[in-house]
Amino acid sequence: MDDFQGKTVLVTGGSRGLGEAVCRRFASAGCRVIVNYAHGADAAEKVAKEISGIAYSCDIADEKAVEKMFSDIGPVDILVNNARIDPYKRGKDTSDGDWWDAVMSVNLKGAYLCGKFAFEDMKKRRWGRMIHISSLWAYQPANERMLSYAAAKSAMHALSRGFANLGAEYGITSNVLAPGLIMTDLIMTRLTPEQLEKEMAGIPLGRGASTSEVAEAVFKVADTPFLTGEIINLNGGAFMRA
Ligand SMILES: NC(=O)c1ccc[n+]([C@@H]2O[C@H](COP(=O)([O-])OP(=O)(O)OC[C@H]3O[C@@H](n4cnc5c(N)ncnc54)[C@H](OP(=O)(O)O)[C@@H]3O)[C@@H](O)[C@H]2O)c1
Repeated sequence: MDDFQGKTVLVTGGSRGLGEAVCRRFASAGCRVIVNYAHGADAAEKVAKEISGIAYSCDIADEKAVEKMFSDIGPVDILVNNARIDPYKRGKDTSDGDWWDAVMSVNLKGAYLCGKFAFEDMKKRRWGRMIHISSLWAYQPANERMLSYAAAKSAMHALSRGFANLGAEYGITSNVLAPGLIMTDLIMTRLTPEQLEKEMAGIPLGRGASTSEVAEAVFKVADTPFLTGEIINLNGGAFMRA
């Protein structure tokens, strides 16, 4: 087991939902946590203040901005690629192609860029952890809304294995955590009781995961040095109903 005290953790999309819980978990282990976000400064500042971390605004789809973020925050020991475009936030005038590009830019290119910049310093320090947050949607046949989202999540698995391969000789591990339903505040306000019931029917354990239990799994992945190139599925048994 590694000592996490003082390690720098970058959590993309750390301002709410799962990202916020991940920030809190690593902070509780004594890490210096960078709470990345793109739009909601108040939420990110609040989380950062409560965990004595640093809120950092950066659109991870913007290569120059990502480069500047890494130069500002210094070497990152642990990267949690968590940020995503909300698949329900597509504007009504956005074309199919533009939406595809937007989803890929944040959910996949952003994860790649953060991985690439983090990787260079991890190599020099001969230690690093990358955890990429994927989804059950990487496997299950997508509906129209989730097509680009699912494709990006699936591609993230290849991205993670690539970093695992490149990083192994330097003591850098890279893994995917693929959750099923997570009971974030956003999900709880979005789903009607009927929709929630339908979701639960597909989960043998009969519930969604709490943000803190998924964050705990993220932490355990980071704290398992011999684990690399893997995909950890955390879905309450939903695979058995697929
Ligand atoms: N919720 C679920 O049921 C569920 C299930 C399976 C997998 N997941 C995965 O778990 C992760 C977290 O999900 P969540 O539900 O907690 O997400 P969420 O509530 O939609 O939060 C997304 C986060 O990403 C940030 N973000 C969005 N665009 C960004 C950009 N361009 N650059 C930097 N940050 C950006 C948001 O901050 P701003 O608003 O400030 O931009 C926010 O902090 C995602 O990867 C998601 O795919 C979620």
